[in-house]
Parts: sequence; C-alpha cells; structure tokens
Amino acid sequence: MNIRDFLTEKVQSAMTTAGIPSECAPIVAPSKKAGFGDYQANGAMGAAKVMKTNPRALAASIVENLDLDGIAATIDIAGPGFINIHLCPKWLATQLAHAQLDDRLGITAVSAPQTAVVDYSSPNLAKEMHVGHLRSSIIGDALVRLLEFQGHKVIRQNHVGDWGTQFGMLTAELEEHLNTDDSVMALNDLEVFYRQSKQHFDADPAFADKAREYVVKLQGGDQNILKLWEQFKTVSLKHSEEMYTNLNVTLKPEDVKGESFYNDDLSVLVKELQEQNLAVESEGAQVVFLDEMADKEGNPSPVLIQKKGGGYLYATTDLAALRYRADTLQADRVLYFIDARQSLHMQQVFTLAKKANFVPATTSLEHHAFGTMMGADGKPFKTRAGDTVKLADLLVEAVERAEKLVREKNTDLNDEQVLEVARKVGIGAVKYADLSKTRTNDYIFSWESMLSFEGNTAPYLQYGYTRIQSIFRKAGISAADLKGELALEVDQEKALALKLLQLSECLEVVAREAYPHILCNYLYELASLYMSFYEACPILKDGIDTATRNSRLQLCAQVGNTLKTGLDLLGIEVMERM
Ligand code: ARG
Repeated sequence: MNIRDFLTEKVQSAMTTAGIPSECAPIVAPSKKAGFGDYQANGAMGAAKVMKTNPRALAASIVENLDLDGIAATIDIAGPGFINIHLCPKWLATQLAHAQLDDRLGITAVSAPQTAVVDYSSPNLAKEMHVGHLRSSIIGDALVRLLEFQGHKVIRQNHVGDWGTQFGMLTAELEEHLNTDDSVMALNDLEVFYRQSKQHFDADPAFADKAREYVVKLQGGDQNILKLWEQFKTVSLKHSEEMYTNLNVTLKPEDVKGESFYNDDLSVLVKELQEQNLAVESEGAQVVFLDEMADKEGNPSPVLIQKKGGGYLYATTDLAALRYRADTLQADRVLYFIDARQSLHMQQVFTLAKKANFVPATTSLEHHAFGTMMGADGKPFKTRAGDTVKLADLLVEAVERAEKLVREKNTDLNDEQVLEVARKVGIGAVKYADLSKTRTNDYIFSWESMLSFEGNTAPYLQYGYTRIQSIFRKAGISAADLKGELALEVDQEKALALKLLQLSECLEVVAREAYPHILCNYLYELASLYMSFYEACPILKDGIDTATRNSRLQLCAQVGNTLKTGLDLLGIEVMERM
C-alpha cells in the first residue's frame, strides 16, 4: 500500500473515533510546500462545515485520535485546520528497505484488475507513417505499458485505415504494375507509389472509373482485388512494424485490427440502428440525430452512418469496433489515443454506442486527445519544402544527432557501443520530449532542447542513470550485495527516500488520467533530488564509514532502479555507460 492510502486509512479511522460522519473524506495528499510536513490531511474543513463546528478544533480532535506512533515524527495543525504530517525518517527507511527487496519496487499489482482496450497508433495504410502518427504511438504505448505494470489486462488495438476509397486507386495501380514491372519494386517507396496512383487517378478518367469500381469490388469481397489489397497491406504493415521496432513501441502484428475487420458487421449495425428508430433517412443517407449533443440552438448533432450510394463511414466502423470491444473483448475501459481534431467524432461515437446499447452503460469510454506537434515557426511540423515529415526520416535524424553528441562526450566507447547509445538517446529524446509535455497542448518540436543533457529531457535522466552505475563500478560492488541498514540521517536523504516511495501514487494518477507527463515530472524531480543528495552526501570519499557508505549506496541503487523502471514504462531505454 502506498503512503497516501495508508495515511488515508489512519486519518479516516481517527475521524470516525472523533465522531465525524463517514461520508467526510480525510483528503490526504503530499504537501506542496516545504515546512508543511510530508503529507497533509485537509478533511477537517469539509467535515466542520457538515457538522457546523469549528474546523481547527475538529482538526485537533482528529489529531488526538490519530495513531501514527513510530510513523510520524510530528503532527501539527496549520491555518484553519490543515493537518501536517512529518514522517519519521526511520519509518521511511523501513518502507524503502522493504521496497528494495522487490523487483517491482514494492508496488503491488491492483487488487481489481480491469480489461483495458487501447486503440493507438492506427495509421492509414495507404501511405507511409509520418510525424502525425508519432504522438498516438508513443503516448498510447506508455499507457499500455503502465496499465500492464499495474496488473490490468491490456488489449492493444491498432485500428489501421485499410478500407477507404483510396484502396480502389491503390489496387488498380498495383494491378498495372503486376503486368509491367516487378510489383515488389513498385511498392518499395509507399509515398512514391501513392503519388503515382494519385496522378494517374487525376489525369486518366478511365483509370479513375476503374479505381471507383475496385473499391466496390474490394468491399464486396472480390477475390482478385482482395489479393492485390492483401499484397499492398502486407508491405505497408511491414513498414509500420519497422517503425514500431525503431521506436520501441510494443505493437505487434497480432494487434492490428483494421477497419476492414468490421466490414461484415456494418450492414447489420445500420439495420439495428434503424430498428431502434435511431437511424433515419435524410436526403437518401442514413443519419442518427443526437439530441444529447445538440448545439446552442437545440439542433441535434447528426452522425452519418451510411452514404446515399450505400457506402459506410468512419463513424460506422468505429461503432462496430466499439461493439466488438465491449462484447468480444469484454472491455471495462476503452482508451483512444487520437488527435484532438477528432474529438467531435469520438464524442458522437461514444454517445451513440451507449444510446444504442452497443456498449454497457458502465464501460468507460475515453478519448485521450492530444495537440499537434509544431515546428519552430509555430505551425504544424513540416519539412523545409512544406511536406509532411516521414517518421522514418525523423528517427534516422534523431539517432544521427545523438551519435554526434555521444562522440563529442565520450571516447571510451567503441563504435558499436556508440551506435547503441546513440539509438537509445536519440529515440529516447524524441519520445520523452513528447511525453513530458501536457498531452492536450500543442508543442514545439526542437532538436536542441530535446537532446540537451540539462533539464527535463531523456538524456538528462539517462545520464543520471549511468552516473549511478558508474558509482557502483567505482565502488566495486553490485547493488545486490549491499548489506547493512538503510539510514536517513541527512535531510536530502530523507527527501530522496520519500520521493522514491511515491512512485506508486504517481503511477495511479497517470493510469487514471492518461497523462504521461506526470510520470516525466516525477522522474525529473527524482533525478534533481538525487543530484542534491549527491552533492550533500559523499559516498565513496575517504573517511566515510562503511555503514554510511552502504546506506547511501542503497539509496543510489533504488534511484537507479526507479529511473530505469519509470523510463521503461515510458518506452525509453537506459544504458550502463554513455
Ligand atoms: N486512422 C485514423 C487516422 O489516421 C486514426 C484511427 C484512430 N482510431 C479510431 N478508432 N478511430 O486518422
């Protein structure tokens, strides 16, 4: 159990003894300011309101009944009735020593695991992945890792776009290449192939007609067109997989459940919506009007689910996907990591899915939207020529830039080691720069700041980790062999221990709210506290007795493990040296 939950129970029971009604919450949280203890219980004010009594007197009677013997060094009351709890260094040391024995850092799995379906990355297969797919892929993957670490059942869903009208054009183009040259060659560069097809489509009306015919054939199950489509899809998916490997994103081929997967259900779904009198005909199309999402004038929000010609839409597929996720996958939570520009779409899909009972009322449907990655000019990130940046190119550049930095910094590593470190630093920097920003905001992409060894960056944290490893190399001892008691004698030691013990509280918030920057901030604060500790508390200096040295080394080890675990949850790798 983490400290906050533990103290919550203690304060709650003191409140009960003090005669406070059980619906009054203790409201325990880490103190925000130095001097106000390590934790605060702020429930006295609310309780006093309910009981129509003096909050400060009520706080005093809570404290009187609060049994924190051996846990709190002092408890004081501030202002109108804030209860400040200063924890005993000895108690913190015991907690930390206990956590140290465990490879999960003392964090227990959740007692009631949920099934979480996570929809992320989900590129359109018609083209190569570009920077627009970066945020969804890495934020989604961080959440997936975290939920799994907490003990939830996580089902990844890569909802790739593999079924739109573009696939008529692409299959028609591919067919022509089959007759002329090597189709494998033709698909070598998906961007070039797409551009070719598009030019062909725009310039040649006969080809355009054929393309339109092929979409219908494809969606109707024509074997020949399906074969071409499969061929295209295989190449495109292979490209995505390569990106996932390079990015250290955990999506696997078996997680792909593209739009095409729901094809057979779409007509059934529309029929059901009609039977429920939700879908109505409007100008030849099938539309659901949602009063729940009406605008200011009271006009219901229209959701188009079938076009006049019979074609289905993005929303139809998403409804089918949601039903599958609820029925077959038995999701308790469905998390979508998609650009904020699709918020209206997601809101409509969620509202309609619940209204039509495709999803139980209790299932949590969550769109975790994110902002846009911007260039230095404050406009969406583009190449100098104004084109979208290919993800593959961006990642190559990241590693190249990191390699240069590593070579400047260190001459001890051989070429192979330099490349390995450069890969981890470069990719880590790109991911961390994204994850450390508040998800919902736009952010400015900057190589200089993300690759800096100062500040809240991946290289700073990775460097912090390697410094700890080098202390152990110098000491000639491994963390596992450390013996002796952990003692927190200096303020910096206590502050560091407390922070270490707060990881699980941090993870709970991130898992609930899907804001990875909270974990980034935690790791950055931890690394900064470590730096202060390192300056104030000599470890390997002459004159430091063995007991103190070993105690401090234990703290170092725990910081190292926590940095490693935290970065791993963000999908970022560490190294022993850099
Ligand atoms: N393929 C879509 C795009 O690139 C994203 C799909 C997101 N997931 C979903 N279930 N709609 O914009």
